[in-house]
Parts: sequence; C-alpha cells; structure tokens
Amino acid sequence: MNLLNIDQLDEDSLRRVLDRSRHWLDVNRQRERPSPGPLDGRIVLNLFYENSTRTLMSFETAAHRLGADVMSLPVAHSSVKKGETLEDTGRTLNAMRPDVLVIRHPENGAPARIADVLDCPVINAGDGTNQHPTQALLDAATLMSRFGRIEGLKIAICGDIKHSRVARSNAELLPRLGAEVRLAGPPSLMPDDVATCGSVDEAVAGADVVMMLRVQRERMEDDLGDAPGEYLERYGLTRERLRKAAPHVAVMHPGPMNRGVEIADDVADNKDRSLIWLQVEMGVAVRMACLELLAGTRD
Ligand code: NCD
Repeated sequence: MNLLNIDQLDEDSLRRVLDRSRHWLDVNRQRERPSPGPLDGRIVLNLFYENSTRTLMSFETAAHRLGADVMSLPVAHSSVKKGETLEDTGRTLNAMRPDVLVIRHPENGAPARIADVLDCPVINAGDGTNQHPTQALLDAATLMSRFGRIEGLKIAICGDIKHSRVARSNAELLPRLGAEVRLAGPPSLMPDDVATCGSVDEAVAGADVVMMLRVQRERMEDDLGDAPGEYLERYGLTRERLRKAAPHVAVMHPGPMNRGVEIADDVADNKDRSLIWLQVEMGVAVRMACLELLAGTRD
C-alpha cells in the first residue's frame, strides 16, 4: 500500500489515521515512548528533492518516536547530482530493502514513478503542484482537535491556489469529511480547473476556518510584480479582513509563512485564533499514524 494521493485512503484507513493521530498526539505530549516502538527494527528512508523544514523533520521525528531507524538522503550531495534517473535512484535504495520510503519532489507524479520500482510502501511528502496527502490529514486532524468535528465547517482556503498541492489535497479531503470548502485568491493564482467562490473577502465572510497559503514565487514563470504591501492589502489575512469571519474563527497556514505578504504578523501571532503551531505538532502525530498504517504492508 502507498500513500500517493489523498483519495487513495478508503474510509477505514482514513478513520484509523485520524484516530491514531489523536492517540499519538497524547503520547507525544506525555513524552512516553512505547518501548519497543511498533516500528522497532524497520528502516524509513526520506528522499527530499525540495527544501523542507517541517515535513522532513516531522517524518524523521515520527519515525524515531515509533522506534524505526530513519535516514534522510542529502540529495544535493547524492548521485542525483551526477545525472542518475529517479528510477535508478529508486532501484538503488530498493536494493537496501527499506520498509518505507518518503519522497518529496518538484515534479508532479514523481512519487508514483518511484513507487513503481520499489517493493516497500511509498509516502508522498509533496509532489510539484499535485498532492500533499499527509498535510491534508494533519489539517483534518488539527480541525478535529479544535472543533471536535469537520462536518458543517465553512473553510476558506485562500491565496496561491494554483501552485498549492496543500489546497488540492485539502479540497479533496475536507468536503469528504463534510466541510464546505471555499477557494479564493488573486485571479492569476487560481487554477482553471477549480471553482472559485469569488474574492478573498467573500470566502472569509462567516468562515469558521481561514487557511492561508504561501505565495509560491519559486513555481512562477513571471513574478507577480506586486509592490511591497500590495498583496497583503488586496488578498492577505489582515486583522480587518479576519473580522468578517465567524467570531470563533481559527486561522491555519501550512508554513513556511511569508509574514507581511499572505498573513499579517498580528494574525499569525494571535494565540486565540491561530492553529499554526498545533498543525506542526499534529504533523508528527499524523505521520506516526501513516507510518504505522503503511509499514506493515511490504509487498
Ligand atoms: C507546503 C508545501 O511544501 O507544499 N509546506 C509544507 O509542507 N508544510 C506549502 C508551501 O511550501 O508553501
């Protein structure tokens, strides 16, 4: 079994991941580690072709907490730089008999390509603008922890939707769990294949949750050409714009944040409203649940 796209998880696996995430969140907070961990003696390999702070570190932390041995290939210093294909890198690592491989890659579909040459389960930690299934799961688990339900929540996902694998995975998962998802952003950053719900102001109006997305300039051919402060003013989450949301609104962001661009400092740092650091904490718990689910399924 692989976790390449969020829609691959059937109802049972989805419930199990969300349930086990809650369990691991509690265990991690108590600093108690199951001994021996359920992944004792297993090997988890991380193969990250793109920069990462929270996703890479949380997969490493999750694997350690489960008692697995984890290694992360420093791609910049690997044979990838000597021209090795993705498939040959996959075959090389496969010959070392890992138990799970976690991959992040700038090309859409790269995790599926490497999964074809591997005997162990593969987890997609983000491919291009396509999918980021563990981020959607950690966002769902964070919402469950805050609201006790996802059913009926009005969730505005705002910003650079076009380049966001986070938005794509969440737009599949959250409606499946009963949420109303509203996607909005600058017209030039809205993909053609999704229904927009109008302006950012309209999306935020009455929302229970506002999830802001980073402007992914590294994926743009032409820069937005915006003046300093212009993006925040027109599309970003300022205190004034947040007032249009429900009084109990929760603010989310997958990170890394561009403070002063898509989110104002005082919104990001509002402890009553922000779930941003809980998202990071939940990331470890969710990745523990995913590793636990997949590690036992070697072909
Ligand atoms: C996101 C990603 O890499 O897709 N970050 C993350 O995994 N937490 C979003 C982003 O880079 O803006």
